[in-house]
Amino acid sequence: MSSTSHQHPASAPVYVVDLDAGHAQFLARQVRAAGIYSEILPRTRTGELADRAAAGVILAGDQSLASVEPLPGVPVLRAPRETWREEDLAAFLGGLDVPRTWTPEAIIDAQVAAIRERVGTDRVICGLSGGVDSSVAAALVQRAIGDQLHCVFVDHGLLREGEVEQVRRDFVAATGVNLTVVDATDQFLAALAGVSDPEAKRKAIGREFIRSFEAAARGLVAEAAGAPVRFLVQGTLYPDVIESGADGATNIKSHHNVGGLPDDLQFELIEPLRELFKDEVREVGEALGVPESIVWRQPFPGPGLGIRIVGEVTAERLAILRRADAIVREELSAAGLDRQIWQCPVVLLADVHSVGVLGEERTYGHPVVLRPVESEDAMSAQWSRLPHELLAQISQRITAEVREINRVVLDVTNKPPGTIEWE
Ligand code: XMP
Repeated sequence: MSSTSHQHPASAPVYVVDLDAGHAQFLARQVRAAGIYSEILPRTRTGELADRAAAGVILAGDQSLASVEPLPGVPVLRAPRETWREEDLAAFLGGLDVPRTWTPEAIIDAQVAAIRERVGTDRVICGLSGGVDSSVAAALVQRAIGDQLHCVFVDHGLLREGEVEQVRRDFVAATGVNLTVVDATDQFLAALAGVSDPEAKRKAIGREFIRSFEAAARGLVAEAAGAPVRFLVQGTLYPDVIESGADGATNIKSHHNVGGLPDDLQFELIEPLRELFKDEVREVGEALGVPESIVWRQPFPGPGLGIRIVGEVTAERLAILRRADAIVREELSAAGLDRQIWQCPVVLLADVHSVGVLGEERTYGHPVVLRPVESEDAMSAQWSRLPHELLAQISQRITAEVREINRVVLDVTNKPPGTIEWE
């Protein structure tokens, strides 16, 4: 059971029975977009419906897999993936006797009340990554308990241009959170020296992250005389909860890298986004005044630019990649494509020396790869058909403004078979 359900802005949910993973999530989001709270129920657990109060039931996907006993008085909608219609869903929802109270404001109010009640006068810490989830989770907890929350931001030196400032300056200004910044760039670079295997990089980054976070957390615990630091905020989302298979299980996102804290430094988890889909997290973030640059940030991997340099990660290579990446982001934004594109990794092939020509001279530089993709959930992705004029502009700018790069190439591979990241 979720820690917050007793404060819920909705009485009884619409249950969406999952007969087809992607489709069930899609329908559950549609129901919520209509202001009605919905939950996904795996088809192996439909028996539980008999004991739960349900406003309605939607059987999402292959109907031959559905075996739901009719529940007295509970409307049921059959929605096979191929033949369901938006009008049918709207009519079904229109016929339900439920209040349409699932709004960002109501979610915030309910969470604020639940967090206050649970935390009391104790203290809470939160690791910020610069991403949407940890930022919105922190802003929500800050709204509830103010200065009892302390955030830690480990700057691993692998973020993109401007992102550290967005956290240090813009996020703090917008939300008023207490923030400790750990500048660990040198430590991460030292750990990455000589490492070019992608999984070894991830391990090194994960290990250093835990070390830095743990040191900062110990500092805060030691300082907090009188009011113990009892809780840790996690930006777990509803799809993580569904995918972990058990909605009671504690599910720590491995890429947040705080799952490995030592036994003497254990916290109870606060997961204020546990019931929310990503689009709801963004709406809640906007309602809380989290800066747009963070709320609308595209997915970015925890190990950051460290896994976008094919080869060893060095300060110099990071600086090169950062400049190229900034140009790409600027041009995609100027073209109005930010919300259409899922993400666009820019990858530096640091060990490849490509031949170029500048005036009369031959040059040796590196190629960068543009990897723009469109996706619903990152499980599969299509390469984006960016306009040729835009590609020309990006290529022209990168080769003119970043001396070390003399070749820009485009990745035209779908996922599968190619992953989104190169490493
Ligand atoms: P792939 O490359 O597997 O990526 O198609 C799917 C999504 O996951 C992100 N990604 C990561 N995120 N730590 C993260 O936090 C990682 O090690 C990692 N590797 C990939 C990737 O950016 C994409 O959104």
